[in-house]
Amino acid sequence: MKERRKVIIDCDPGIDDSLALLLALKSKELEVLGITIVCGNVPAKQGVQNALKALELCKSLHVPVYLGEETPLKRELVTAQDTHGEDGVGECFFEEINGGIVKNGAAHYIIETLAKENNVSIIALGPLTNIAKALMKDKEAFQNLDEFISMGGAFRIHGNCSPVAEFNYWVDPQAADYVYKNLGKKIHMVGLDVTRKIVLTPNTIEFIEKIGGELGKYIKDITRFYVDFHWKQEGIIGCVINDPLAVAYFIDRSICRGFSSSVEIVHEGIAMGQSIVDAENFYKREDNAFILTEVDFKRFMLMFLERLFPEKINLIQNTQGVM
Ligand code: RIB
Ligand code: CA
Repeated sequence: MKERRKVIIDCDPGIDDSLALLLALKSKELEVLGITIVCGNVPAKQGVQNALKALELCKSLHVPVYLGEETPLKRELVTAQDTHGEDGVGECFFEEINGGIVKNGAAHYIIETLAKENNVSIIALGPLTNIAKALMKDKEAFQNLDEFISMGGAFRIHGNCSPVAEFNYWVDPQAADYVYKNLGKKIHMVGLDVTRKIVLTPNTIEFIEKIGGELGKYIKDITRFYVDFHWKQEGIIGCVINDPLAVAYFIDRSICRGFSSSVEIVHEGIAMGQSIVDAENFYKREDNAFILTEVDFKRFMLMFLERLFPEKINLIQNTQGVM
């Protein structure tokens, strides 16, 4: 088997972040070195608890969790608790997890890990505040970074916080723009153009609950609130799970297609948080991003289910109506 790829997951759990953590922790291709928490869907301290819950379910409490930035670089924090629930996991209000390794200093952990380990990649599933802070502190450490995947942005599709802005880049546009301008590596932008196609339907959720035991019940429980929100807000039956696609794409690039371009994030005004993708190269700038535009939904969903429930592969592949 190929060597496992070392990753730091920076996230704002968050229901879809939590599903992404499950996928990463149950994928043998990955070694999750650590999880860094950023303010976003919920205040960062709540995000720490939600990450610990996902780790506990995957018997992975040995993976350290680092509390990161509790406010964006410049803006006031605007959370998405209307979407993810007060607790960030569908108002299940789980009991506090006492085990696990929880430390402060997400930015320092990122710098320290990049400095001492080779071939480490970062999968960012929330606002880019932690990443920007780490870059500001020690840009040189990022020369050792392998790849950078960011769930965020929108190219040819409408936003989810404004007509043009996607939540992660809208919460902290200054951080997002700083990272796009200073990372020095191509950012794989897993934006709403592809993630909106990843809808977890009631059929699939019912199937997950029937085959999934404790993990299946957790997924059913944390997505209930999210499904209700999607019906009220977007007239969708089911829920869009953005973040797991970033993990799946990191594992298997062939799931998505896209193109290289230069990207800049709008800092303020009516288009605040918009990811301006210069697809026609008007500004003649160097490409700093790879923009995903197509996704094979079925291949994603099969990967998601097969990794979460490897002992149920036969049911996953043969049960009618799952996808
Ligand atoms: O816009 C969707 C993104 O914002 C997802 O990462 C979701 O978890 C929130 O962070
Ligand atoms: Ca997220």
